[in-house]
Amino acid sequence: MTQDELKDAVAAAAIDEIRPHLARDTVLGIGTGSTASRFIDRLAELRLDFAGAVASSEASAKRLRDHGIDVLELNSVGTLPFYIDGADEVNAHLHMIKGGGGALTREKIVAACSQRFICIADASKRVERLGNFPLPVEVIPMARSYVARELVKLGADPVYREGVVTDNGNQILDCFEFPIDDPVAMEARLNGIVGVVTNGLFAARGADVLLLGTDQGVERLTPQ
Ligand code: A5P
Repeated sequence: MTQDELKDAVAAAAIDEIRPHLARDTVLGIGTGSTASRFIDRLAELRLDFAGAVASSEASAKRLRDHGIDVLELNSVGTLPFYIDGADEVNAHLHMIKGGGGALTREKIVAACSQRFICIADASKRVERLGNFPLPVEVIPMARSYVARELVKLGADPVYREGVVTDNGNQILDCFEFPIDDPVAMEARLNGIVGVVTNGLFAARGADVLLLGTDQGVERLTPQ
């Protein structure tokens, strides 16, 4: 199967996962990226079965609206039953690197407000150790150089993602050459650098379920 076919398969599996739990007042948390977009496209068929969605990016909000799905403000809703999103890397503990699309901060906020994080990913995203994919760090623009120097001290090779402004008006440093042995500790450490808005490690709050698309079918995995 191609990577696109695997993404389609996990999007369909996520629909099957949430469908029995939908009610007229259900609000879903929705992620960002090519896999999440496929999920949004399939969610359109169910749009009369739930109330609406909170989006983790302007791009996903537009896609949801284009399908006739109501997009709600996070501040106007309570705890969400599900957050469905892709990942750039995911390990056996369902810790992830996210933010390849630059939406990491809003993704982390919506995930924090959700009871269950369903990660949907093709098999190429499953890794033993996080860090081959460059770890994104969102920074307040005036702090970019300072944060970059601090990241170098931690062993990373940070590269400014030129021309990219996040939905929050900030900038992104991508940390290359940065294998991560303790994702929970590193997530907290990076967030402690002044000027960091958030980083793309989703470890303190990882996924609860991983729907992994493989050539043998969709595997349903829980944290080890
Ligand atoms: C967006 O900022 C990211 O966190 C995405 O969820 C992640 O990059 C996965 O994207 P794809 O589904 O496009 O691989």
